[in-house]
Amino acid sequence: MTSLSTTATVSVNEDDARQEFAGIRQLVEEENKAVDQIIVKELSSGVLLVNQIGHYIINSGGKRLRPMLLLLAAKALNYPGDKHLTLAAVLEFIHTATLLHDDVVDESSLRRGRDTANRLWGNSASVLVGDFLYSRSFEMMVGVHDLRVMQIMSSTTTAIAEGEVLQLLNCNNPATTEQKYLDVVARKTAILFAAAGQLAGVLTGASPEVEQNLREYGLRLGIAFQLIDDALDYMANPEELGKNLGDDLAEGKPTLPLIYALEHASPEQAEILRVAIEQGEREHFKDVYAIVESTDAIAYTTRRAREEAEKAITALDCIPSSQFKDALIRLARFSVARSY
Ligand code: IPE
Ligand code: IPE
Ligand code: MG
Ligand code: MG
Repeated sequence: MTSLSTTATVSVNEDDARQEFAGIRQLVEEENKAVDQIIVKELSSGVLLVNQIGHYIINSGGKRLRPMLLLLAAKALNYPGDKHLTLAAVLEFIHTATLLHDDVVDESSLRRGRDTANRLWGNSASVLVGDFLYSRSFEMMVGVHDLRVMQIMSSTTTAIAEGEVLQLLNCNNPATTEQKYLDVVARKTAILFAAAGQLAGVLTGASPEVEQNLREYGLRLGIAFQLIDDALDYMANPEELGKNLGDDLAEGKPTLPLIYALEHASPEQAEILRVAIEQGEREHFKDVYAIVESTDAIAYTTRRAREEAEKAITALDCIPSSQFKDALIRLARFSVARSY
């Protein structure tokens, strides 16, 4: 299954995507180093297993996209302080906690090209270290002394948890609609990006309009990002992606490629898809993929992602031109063009 080659439906040049990302990252290189130092310091715990798992996952080569969004937005608004560094680390901790939990729920065995923590240390350890990261994030936020930051982040983590539970309810249900799916995506993924954008507005004392637009930017980018993640789960180069293909189907997750394919398939094809969603299986990945491909569901998902990324870019109209604003625009496009 993992040898399925990438088709031409999404023309992604892997090297170009990586280079583009490295170029964006370069603009906040110094800040990223400072964030890494905070991450290492705050990961430390007197409990050995917490240290072990924490370092394993944090140092395994994630893209650090959410911190980058906050750092770039703060720089685009000329933020002079250092609270963005702590909050960038907080965003990465919360993201990492959701990944630890997500891999348990999804029974995933590969992430960032390595065995998942649940595979190496088991489900209980993964869940509990995820909880540690959530709690440590709130400790760090308290140190920022800003009630609005606390409000935004506490409602964000609540929404993420709701999104994950909603997704669980949609699993194995072939009647899941695109709207229901988008509701899950907004909560489980996009809201953290939205918070990252909004925090830049809050820290810099921006106008309510700018703050809301930065939130909108993050939200739209986050939706685009998850739509592409769901397309990649069917058609990526697995070595490049660092995750196994077919994890969503194995869980009976009706993501947009499947939802669209179901609506556009022949009655015979639709029956195959329905059974695959209801039973949640890996064995028929090839058949399901062929149907997804033949109904242009990947192309549709990518088109929808592109639309969301363009909405994200439009939301940036209210901030002044700079290389950092340009980088935010590029980041939105990277979220769609990425192959990993
Ligand atoms: C993976 O996020 C989880 C989703 C929301 C799709 P990333 O693709 O940002 O994960 P890393 O941190 O770069 O590995
Ligand atoms: C992202 O959904 C879930 C989170 C927000 C953690 P996925 O289940 O598709 O993420 P991956 O593909 O495992 O990274
Ligand atoms: Mg998953
Ligand atoms: Mg995924």
